[in-house]
Amino acid sequence: KGVAKKQAKQSSTEIKQAAVLGAGIMGGGIAYQSAYKGTPIVMKDINQAALDLGMNEAATLLGKKVERGHMKLDKMVGTLGKIKPTLNDADLAGSDIVVEAVVEHPQVKKTVLAGLEKQLPEGTILTSNTSTIRIDELAEALEKPEHFCGMHFFNPVPKMPLVEIIRGEKTSDETVAAVVDYALKLGKSPIVVNDCPGFFVNRVLFPYFAGFSKLVVEGADFTKVDKVMENVFGWPMGPAYLLDVVGIDTANHCTGVMADGFPTRMARQDKDPVAVLANAERFGQKNQKGFYKYA
Ligand code: CAA
Ligand code: NAD
Repeated sequence: KGVAKKQAKQSSTEIKQAAVLGAGIMGGGIAYQSAYKGTPIVMKDINQAALDLGMNEAATLLGKKVERGHMKLDKMVGTLGKIKPTLNDADLAGSDIVVEAVVEHPQVKKTVLAGLEKQLPEGTILTSNTSTIRIDELAEALEKPEHFCGMHFFNPVPKMPLVEIIRGEKTSDETVAAVVDYALKLGKSPIVVNDCPGFFVNRVLFPYFAGFSKLVVEGADFTKVDKVMENVFGWPMGPAYLLDVVGIDTANHCTGVMADGFPTRMARQDKDPVAVLANAERFGQKNQKGFYKYA
């Protein structure tokens, strides 16, 4: 954190207005956190239902603070007013930073990022909340990759302190400094890491998920694995439940990126339960069915 703070001091771009692309699990959380910490944010999606969900979630979280006496009602209304949900690209104008948080698919992200670069003034900072895709790979879509880096939040965004800031080969120091600064403004603990598939955390987390999947393929009962990890080992949740929280579709994309990036260590397993569930459209908590049922 000390190094990150030092880097923030060199910052030249102050983030006064932000934007997030994607109003899903992560985009909604990022919008809430930015508004809560005082930086107005445009939340853009291609789906009105996603925007409505994102706004409802923000209202619920802020409502809890009011109920507990931690926030006044007028502050709650003001905070909600700092999030502008939209379906229109034109509303992104005036943003100092854009956090891309759309599906974990390299080609979709490249198209979205290239479109943003064309539309926004030169110097606008572009970041990706990708879980696993190399920043240098995404940067191939950009003409000015110096203004681009990874900004990887963790789920649930309002609760998880860490943000990984991933420096691509061509990312400038000024860009890293400005993004560190914004992460600190959001009340997060940023770390600056180098680029590789999965960066730091997901190089640790996805081998754990792979170990779990192997146990299931070999016949383990996933509910028992979860019970042991939760009740006896003492982690907040077991791997099956955590995969449902992350989103099975997202975890499936991430597993593919990690397998491509580390073909010997992270090769995809036959009958990988994450792939089996994704193919059955059991996407986890986001559609009420994954390893577990939620409705
Ligand atoms: N958004 C905002 N808040 C949420 C939430 C969400 N989606 N889900 C739960 N919460 C909040 C609840 O509202 C509740 O808040 P209050 O205390 O204000 O009522 C709180 O979280 C839950 O409180 P608990 O007492 O049940 O739990 P806790 O405070 O002890 O722990 C936690 C919460 C730290 C999130 C814990 O559940 C945890 O560690 N979970 C695992 C999270 C994790 O591992 N995330 C990483 C996922 S992988 C990833 O993000 C990377 C990737 O690229 C895929
Ligand atoms: P999600 O499925 O909940 O939401 C994705 C949203 O993106 C949807 O609302 C969809 O309508 C929208 N979208 C798709 N294409 C779009 C476009 N062209 N423009 C605007 N919006 C578009 O996914 P998520 O879990 O929020 O994940 C988003 C990103 O964050 C992924 O790259 C994922 O790997 C990463 N991430 C996820 C987690 C997690 O635990 N879920 C944690 C860290 C990082």
